[in-house]
Amino acid sequence: MIQEETVLLFSEETIQKRVDELGRQISADYSDVDELLMVGVLRGCYIFLADLSRRLSIPRRIDFISVSSYEQTKTTPGALRIIMDTRIDVAGIHVLLVDDILDTGHTLAYLLNILAARKPASLKSCVFLRKRNRLEKDVQIDYLGFDIPDLWVVGYGLDYADKCRALPYIGVVKTEQD
Ligand code: IMP
Ligand code: MG
Repeated sequence: MIQEETVLLFSEETIQKRVDELGRQISADYSDVDELLMVGVLRGCYIFLADLSRRLSIPRRIDFISVSSYEQTKTTPGALRIIMDTRIDVAGIHVLLVDDILDTGHTLAYLLNILAARKPASLKSCVFLRKRNRLEKDVQIDYLGFDIPDLWVVGYGLDYADKCRALPYIGVVKTEQD
């Protein structure tokens, strides 16, 4: 029987403190801007985006985007495609792309390229976690929660086979065979 156990990496308190700091920093950086559009990358972003958006003291709107990868083969990495696009046209708008985790960086690099081509007034990115050693793409990250080692993490929106998303902390999955 496969059993999933998690080992604590960041407690709820540690996470909330860091989200507070990010909220303050983003609010200060955008204090001169009329309105900020936060674009969350579904599904992993949903808890981080909910918390972060409530910490901002500036006018903001929320939108979402979702990507899926085509089947990966031995020779070609799975190409990405948008399966749900933003409702708001981002042209001329200040956009902050918000994602849960940067792993290889392919997802965020792909989305930043697509959004940049739509000529927003400005485009920045905010990622809650980053696996430094896994990065394959040089992706510009403007706001970062934490750097983490190369481990599969769950909780705070992040899943393992679509489970564990609602955990209030970030844990590392340990898979044990009984
Ligand atoms: P990337 O394109 O390799 O950067 O991967 C991005 C996506 O893979 C993230 O947005 C997550 O949805 C997922 N992902 C990567 N690492 C983890 C992890 O440790 N836990 C949960 N999801 C992950
Ligand atoms: Mg994701």
